[in-house]
Amino acid sequence: MTRTAIVTGAASGIGAATVLELARQGYRTVGIDIALDGARNTAREATQLNAERHYAIAADVTNEARLIEAFDEAQIFLGHLDVLVTSAGVGETTPFMDLTVDTFRAVNEVNVIGTFVCIREAAKRMQPGARICTVASVAGIRGGGLSGTAAYAASKGAVLALTKNAARALAPRGISVNTIAPGATLTPMIAEHWKNEAHRTRVEGMSVLNRTAQPHEMAVAIAFLVSPQATSITGSTLVADNGLVMY
Ligand SMILES: NC(=O)c1ccc[n+]([C@@H]2O[C@H](COP(=O)([O-])OP(=O)(O)OC[C@H]3O[C@@H](n4cnc5c(N)ncnc54)[C@H](O)[C@@H]3O)[C@@H](O)[C@H]2O)c1
Repeated sequence: MTRTAIVTGAASGIGAATVLELARQGYRTVGIDIALDGARNTAREATQLNAERHYAIAADVTNEARLIEAFDEAQIFLGHLDVLVTSAGVGETTPFMDLTVDTFRAVNEVNVIGTFVCIREAAKRMQPGARICTVASVAGIRGGGLSGTAAYAASKGAVLALTKNAARALAPRGISVNTIAPGATLTPMIAEHWKNEAHRTRVEGMSVLNRTAQPHEMAVAIAFLVSPQATSITGSTLVADNGLVMY
């Protein structure tokens, strides 16, 4: 049977690259994103990569009711659900002393609560053997220090803990839940900061490979974590950061 996947954040960056990698591996996919045009473009590209149809759905992961509808729609399209990847997320770079509670809440609404609702809704629709991969960040391990600051680092630390809790909670259902913690990856999220040569050089120099990753490098790592071969892996954090934190 064709493997199926829902990927959030499918319009751009790591989410888009994940849809394309899963398509290369023969999956049928549904991409969910607040940016429908981008998600449709990704679905169109995926259609060139295998014989399956791919679908895009507009939803804001902070809108619980809409997200539940989106998962219902995705299930109708896919039939069954093998895989969820939660790549929808926002960056945040306000210096600590200028950070407002409203901004802190808004970042956590997307990165943490949005991820939680997606995991819960996917798990309701999954059978034993299904796999979930969330997207954290080295910021959640290090407490920021690359581009993101307090609200972002705290949200990604929460994703690490949420993933481990979901791995415990969903193990009895036969569902594995892992996370990837990317280091600097050249997507629209960091493209503006990377125009600052001094900043880019400083961050790259923190990793032993002294480079920035491309989104496809994250996608292949995610594809492994959600593959049928990853039988013994749950509650794990795969750090893909060119040797920065060596966690
Ligand atoms: N790029 C990096 O260096 C890096 C490093 C570590 C972790 N990450 C994480 O990787 C994930 C993907 O980021 P990216 O770098 O691909 O960025 P990106 O900006 O290219 O993609 C993020 C996607 O999420 C979507 N999105 C944002 N808010 C949403 C919402 N409320 N509802 C639905 N969709 C929403 C955006 O429309 C966009 O398509 C994020 O969680 C990010 O924190 C990125």
